[in-house]
Amino acid sequence: MAPTVILIGFMGSGKTAVGECLAERLGWGFIDADREVERNLGMSIPEAFRSKGENFFRGVEEDVVSRILEKAAASTEGMVVSLGGGAVTSSGTRERLKREQLVMLLDEDVETAFQRAGGGGRPLAAELERFRTLYEERAGVYREAAGMIIDTRGKRIKAVAQEAEAMVREKIGEEGTAGA
Ligand code: S3P
Repeated sequence: MAPTVILIGFMGSGKTAVGECLAERLGWGFIDADREVERNLGMSIPEAFRSKGENFFRGVEEDVVSRILEKAAASTEGMVVSLGGGAVTSSGTRERLKREQLVMLLDEDVETAFQRAGGGGRPLAAELERFRTLYEERAGVYREAAGMIIDTRGKRIKAVAQEAEAMVREKIGEEGTAGA
């Protein structure tokens, strides 16, 4: 069974960009859960929030995440999976994550996260105060779910991916590729 890295963290913490870069560095496959959810819904996430509501979206998200994690677990190649920021609000998903060895939190500050995520059409990133409240509410949940934490403050995507790669290689007992 090949390893699976699961990236969690708030909106705008860089999960998709870091995930892509990390997967490339490791030579592993990459799955973005938000993209899979959108494919499954046949519409964008903002559209799903508008027309079906958040609860409906969360149900689909939980299902899709569960299927992605099963698929990754069965894969013969290593996988990097980026979850949507709210995926860990599902108790089912949190339980599922307890069985995973490589859950990694990208820990970004709220202002930078909002700069990245705000204005991009994300339904829960329309205004800073609500964004901040959600960020504070979820902070503990992310930390509890994560076995590894990267402080991404002030770091570029490539540097975060490099740090993530070193952490993963150490965990799975491989030597790093320093400076690569
Ligand atoms: C959400 C995060 C988004 C997306 C949806 C809800 C959240 O994913 O799933 O807009 O509740 O934090 P990203 O974290 O990839 O932006």
